[in-house]
Amino acid sequence: MRLRYPLTLTALALSLAAGLVIGDDDEHERDRQRGHSTMFRQADFSPAQDPTYRSECGGCHFAYPPGLLPARSWEALLDGLGDHFGDNAELSDAVTAQLRGYLTTQAADSAEASGRAPAVAASIPASETPLRFTATRYFQRKHHEIDPRTVHDNPQVGSLSACAACHTQADAGSFDEHQVRIPGMGRWED
Ligand code: HEC
Ligand code: HEC
Repeated sequence: MRLRYPLTLTALALSLAAGLVIGDDDEHERDRQRGHSTMFRQADFSPAQDPTYRSECGGCHFAYPPGLLPARSWEALLDGLGDHFGDNAELSDAVTAQLRGYLTTQAADSAEASGRAPAVAASIPASETPLRFTATRYFQRKHHEIDPRTVHDNPQVGSLSACAACHTQADAGSFDEHQVRIPGMGRWED
């Protein structure tokens, strides 16, 4: 008799937990089916494949896909490599010109833009030239639920600019929230 009350509570907690788990599985199942019906899920952003870009701009940080920013932003970044977020990332004129060609033809507002890139371009007012994707409203809308302490106080992340620290398939251009693993925190569940 003395145990009845706690047992009832335990049963209630268990059934609630089961309900939540089932609900979550349903959602994942729907995502899987959606993925299968299109066979190959289109990348959110075409990954950066140009070898020069990858070696010159992917050494200090993740090689950001060109579709993250409009052409005018890439131009401004290339024009200011001498003081690049406090670092000197200067390159020869020839290499800079080559990167300019690559980045502007693949930019968010270019004819090559695919996946989420056109929506990113459309979300940036023409009067703005952001030097960071992380400074765009598009990015901030997707990341406002993240506790800043799990980023800045986390030596395995350090900054929201470190896309690949959390997005396990970032290098393939996939940023699906179900593939996020924040180091030290595990799977992202919202
Ligand atoms: C010497 C190291 C270094 C090199 C080389 C370098 N970067 Fe960076 N880059 C940085 C640093 C540092 C930041 C700021 C990162 C942070 O805030 O965590 C940054 C940030 C960026 C950002 C903003 C990311 C965001 O959305 O917050 C872009 C875009 C970028 N770099 C593009 C480039 C391009 C293009 C090249 C090649 C021409 C390049 N970087 C080469 C060091 C470098
Ligand atoms: C600290 C970990 C972390 C970092 C660093 C990070 N993200 Fe995310 N990102 C997330 C989480 C968590 C979500 C899902 C948020 C949600 O659903 O509420 C997300 C969502 C997204 C989405 C939307 C995905 C979807 O399914 O709707 C995109 C696109 C994205 N991130 C791109 C980037 C890019 C590009 C960078 C680097 C400039 C970056 N993220 C850096 C954790 C991170």
